[in-house]
Amino acid sequence: MTNKLKVGVIGLGSMGSTHLDIYSKINDIEVIAIADSIQSRLDGSSKAEGNISGQAEGGVLGLSVQKYLDGMDLINNPDIDIVDICVGTDLHFIFVEAALAKNKHVLVEKPLARTYDEAKKIIQLAKKKSSCHVMSAMCLRYWPAWVVLKEAIENNTYGECLSLNFKRQTSFPGGAFYSDESQCGGALLDLHVHDTDFINYCLGLPDAVFSQGYKGPSGGVDHVVTNYIFSKTNASPLVSSEGTWAMQEGYGFNMSYTANFENGTLSYLLDEDETLKLFRAGFEPKSIKLKEGMGYEHEIRAFVDEILSGNKTNFDLLLQAAETIAIIEAEKISIETCSVVALEA
Ligand SMILES: NC(=O)c1ccc[n+]([C@@H]2O[C@H](COP(=O)([O-])OP(=O)(O)OC[C@H]3O[C@@H](n4cnc5c(N)ncnc54)[C@H](O)[C@@H]3O)[C@@H](O)[C@H]2O)c1
Repeated sequence: MTNKLKVGVIGLGSMGSTHLDIYSKINDIEVIAIADSIQSRLDGSSKAEGNISGQAEGGVLGLSVQKYLDGMDLINNPDIDIVDICVGTDLHFIFVEAALAKNKHVLVEKPLARTYDEAKKIIQLAKKKSSCHVMSAMCLRYWPAWVVLKEAIENNTYGECLSLNFKRQTSFPGGAFYSDESQCGGALLDLHVHDTDFINYCLGLPDAVFSQGYKGPSGGVDHVVTNYIFSKTNASPLVSSEGTWAMQEGYGFNMSYTANFENGTLSYLLDEDETLKLFRAGFEPKSIKLKEGMGYEHEIRAFVDEILSGNKTNFDLLLQAAETIAIIEAEKISIETCSVVALEA
């Protein structure tokens, strides 16, 4: 029991509750504290809902741990090894800064920060704290169907990658955080960041982006379509992505991709079911069996393993999560100016 890593979770919305469910399944972890400024979330009498099945199922119910109304008080608890930051995005920077100042390991929900400037400051702080592991919870990197796609791109499993198209569509989540662009960054940052980050993770920083979009209930860009331009490489796939939470109420949530390779097409859709299909000329379409579990589970396991190994193996992934916010900000400028916006490495 004493050798377990001790975790404190700050913010008990859909994500904090989801993380709590996952920690309960990991032997090397013991949650010893939770924090939320809403008393009913802290005592479990109200609970946030997730937007996909498997999110936020149990949450705080049945947890007998220390409880704080202010996340900063949780950070001051000397027994905590890992601070898991699941508050709104505009608060990520101040909580990461405070947790690192107390020499805690930090898991911070995506996006890493509300702005690229804040993300860069987090990188500087994380570099200085050689004993602290910091992870940006970019869960798509660990989502089984996306892991298959990354491997197919890297290993040329079906030949060269010719095109990649990603979609993420839902109706407006509502609530104070998502209704305020200054907190969440609109669907452009909050939702679409998953796909932009995955593209960055697989192919690196694009040379330029061209985006179009419109504003919605957050007050910011809530529907975006982007072309990612990789002009400097010889064999660049055609890359595009659409992210929106502007669909009408009742639409539900879906995420999908279609990836075309020289010798095969991979197509994935998560709505009611989870299916990854492979189409190849001369063969029957085939369903690819996926590793069980959601990306959140594999992501948290990877973070715990990194801490236990003592090696900062995933630091590059943190740098990339920061760069992703630079790409999102370029997409915003592209929408505002209706022009192609270049990115500098
Ligand atoms: N990885 C994913 O797929 C995914 C999905 C949804 C949300 N998120 C991210 O998770 C974060 C939180 O999203 P959410 O939907 O859970 O939001 P939310 O608003 O439902 O929950 C945030 C919680 O933080 C609490 N809080 C705010 N300030 C606090 C403080 N000072 N001390 C303690 N608690 C405080 C709020 O009371 C609230 O309950 C966001 O950054 C969002 O982008 C990630």
